Formats: sequence, structure tokens, C-alpha cells
Amino acid sequence: ADALKIGIAGLGTVGASLVRILQERYDSLATTCGRAIEITAVTARDRTRNRGVDISDFAWFDDAAKLAAEADVDVFVELMGGSGDPAYSAVKVALARGVHVVTANKALLAAHGVELAEIAESHGALLNYEAAVAGGIPIIKALRESLTGNTVSRVYGIMNGTCNYILTKMEKEGLSFEACLKEAQRLGYAEADPAFDIEGNDTAHKLSILTSLAFGTTIAADDIYLEGITNISIDDIHAAADLGYRIKLLGVAQRTDSGIEQRVHPTMVPLDSVIAQVDGVTNAVAIESDILGELLMVGPGAGGNATASAVLGDIADIAKSRPGAQHVPAFGRPVTALLPYTRAQMQ
Ligand code: NAP
Ligand code: HSE
Repeated sequence: ADALKIGIAGLGTVGASLVRILQERYDSLATTCGRAIEITAVTARDRTRNRGVDISDFAWFDDAAKLAAEADVDVFVELMGGSGDPAYSAVKVALARGVHVVTANKALLAAHGVELAEIAESHGALLNYEAAVAGGIPIIKALRESLTGNTVSRVYGIMNGTCNYILTKMEKEGLSFEACLKEAQRLGYAEADPAFDIEGNDTAHKLSILTSLAFGTTIAADDIYLEGITNISIDDIHAAADLGYRIKLLGVAQRTDSGIEQRVHPTMVPLDSVIAQVDGVTNAVAIESDILGELLMVGPGAGGNATASAVLGDIADIAKSRPGAQHVPAFGRPVTALLPYTRAQMQ
């Protein structure tokens, strides 16, 4: 079969890891997928920046939307970030010409996911975004595909590696909040603007996506009670430990009789619970549903390789599929079958 041609917009922590892995595993991926995966075009802000990978064989575009509109690609991989342009326009342009999109951009999906899914559906393109929630953990596939038919009552967990890394380091190494955040940034875990991590917005973006998948509704990223970890001190952490708890930043979405409740806030979890033992950049997402029961998925939640692993899985899914194969809708059901989001009445 012909090679699957991909264009990558964004060559930072995730994009550079992806390029390196695709180059190193070119032959084994070609065997596994039944066709080669070839990078044909790339873009970033600064063409001259040393990224630790060789990009000299790829066509360079100065503009992401131009790459999305004009490059000879089957898949547009969006790894720039941000809910607005250039990511938003570029993804729309790619989908509208029937080019599949793979993205790790939860901010974009939280803001425009349903609109993008609609464009994808009407142009026969796929919108894959496994890396957008909980890094390398295959939580999107679990909710979108494996749990189809279940009625989900609750989804919750640790969805931000930076915050969990900070809280763990503060407790176990006695380091300051600021020092831990700097280290998370150095390791490539944090968002370009780390306020999104520590103020809880990133967890809220992810939660809004999981809510849609879990309950079959449209996305309501603005209807989330939001509190980050910026006010958590080392004294709070020690006081919680004295009482038999650990503080974790949780995202929680649950079905109630009156509608859906979504919240993000630091939570005291009992020391003997599995969630309390989840340390560092690791994430954990629990899903409670009627047929399966409780599912808990734990794994690397951020970082170049963990995230590139999920992006690569999405690309490989497309490489393995054959023309005419059935597409899995982006949010688990056709956009027209998404239910309106109804917020729970406050007690
Ligand atoms: P990053 O290191 O900041 O890289 C962003 C890349 O996008 C850089 O190559 C940058 O170009 C490029 N870029 C930014 N603005 C651009 C513009 N206007 N036009 C063209 N290129 C532009 O970010 P990252 O950590 O790789 O994250 C990328 C995406 O993955 C984000 O949506 C993020 O939320 C998501 N994500 C990240 C992680 C993680 O652990 N890092 C995990 C899951 C999901 P230059 O290099 O030239 O500046
Ligand atoms: N900044 C995010 C985090 C990246 O720390 O979890 C993964 O989505």
C-alpha cells in the first residue's frame, strides 16, 4: 500500500518526540501497519531552532493553515496547542478537505470539539485525540469504544501531571511550589502557559472531553466548578497527612437526577486509596459504569514520549485502516446524536 503521508504542526516537546520515534521506528511501523508512515511536511514558529531531530527532508511551511490547506498529506498532526488560531483554523481547513486530524490539544477540543467533529463527519475525515487527556493512558478509546453500551455514572481522577508532580515533590522532597513547577517545566510536562496547569484549567479542559464521551453530551467546558492548587501550602499537605489523607487535584464528572455535575479542585483522598498512591507525573482515571463496574487506568500523564506514544497510536490506527473502513465518530456517536448538556441543580 502507499505510504501514509503526515504533516506535523508543532515541533516542541511532543512534536520533536514524535518525529524522533517515527524516524527510529520507520521499518517496524511499516511492517505493523502494512504501510509506511512518512512525514512529508512540518511547521513551527522558528525554522532555525535546534530540536534534536533532523527535519531537513521535510517540506517546511511558515504557516500552519497553509500546511493544512496545501501540503500533500493524508493526516494533519496538530501539536502547537491553544484553543484559538493557528490551531483552530488549521484543523478546520484540514478536516474540510477530508484530511484526517490527530491532535493532543485539549484546549482546542474543549472549546470547539463538537464543531470540529461535525466538520470531520461531514467530510469523511477522522478526528483522533487520544493524547489530549491523561497523556499516554488510552482513556479516550476506553470511553469512546470499549465501554459503548454501558451507562456511565461517574468519571474522575488525576488528569494533570504537572500538578501531581508538584504536590508529590512538595510532600516527599520538601521543595517549594515554585521550584517544583520549574522542574515540571524543564521536564516538558507543563503547558506553554503553566497557569493552565496550576489553576486547574487544563484539568477542566480534559474533564469536559471525558464528560462528553462518558455521558454522550455536547461539551460544556464553562460549566465546571474550578479551583487549582496555587493556594496549597506544604503545611496543608502535612496537615492532611496527619489526618490520614493526601491532597490530589481531581477532576470529577457525575450524573445526578437533575443533570451533570463537573468540578475540579484539590481533594483530600484517604492514604490507603489507590488514587492517593499515584505519584509524580502519573495520572489515574476511574470510570464507574453499570455493565463493567469500576475501571481504573493509571499511567504516564505528560511528557514528550508518553504523549507521543498516544499520538503515534492515533496515526497508526489511520495507517492500518483501509479505504471504505467504518470510522469511529470523534465523540463516540454521530454529532447529531449528542445529547444537550444539562447541568445538575445545586442542592
Ligand atoms: P511546546 O513544547 O510548547 O511546543 C509547541 C510547538 O508549537 C513548538 O514547536 C512551537 O514552535 C509551535 N508553535 C507554537 N505556536 C505556533 C504558531 N503560532 N505557529 C506555528 N507553530 C507554533 O508544546 P508541547 O508540550 O509539545 O505541547 C503541544 C500540544 O500537546 C499542546 O496542545 C499541549 O497541550 C499538548 N500536550 C502536551 C503534553 C506534554 O506533556 N507536553 C501532554 C499532552 C498534551 P517553536 O518550537 O518554533 O517555538
Ligand atoms: N500540562 C499537561 C499536564 C500535559 O501536566 O498534565 C498533559 O496533558
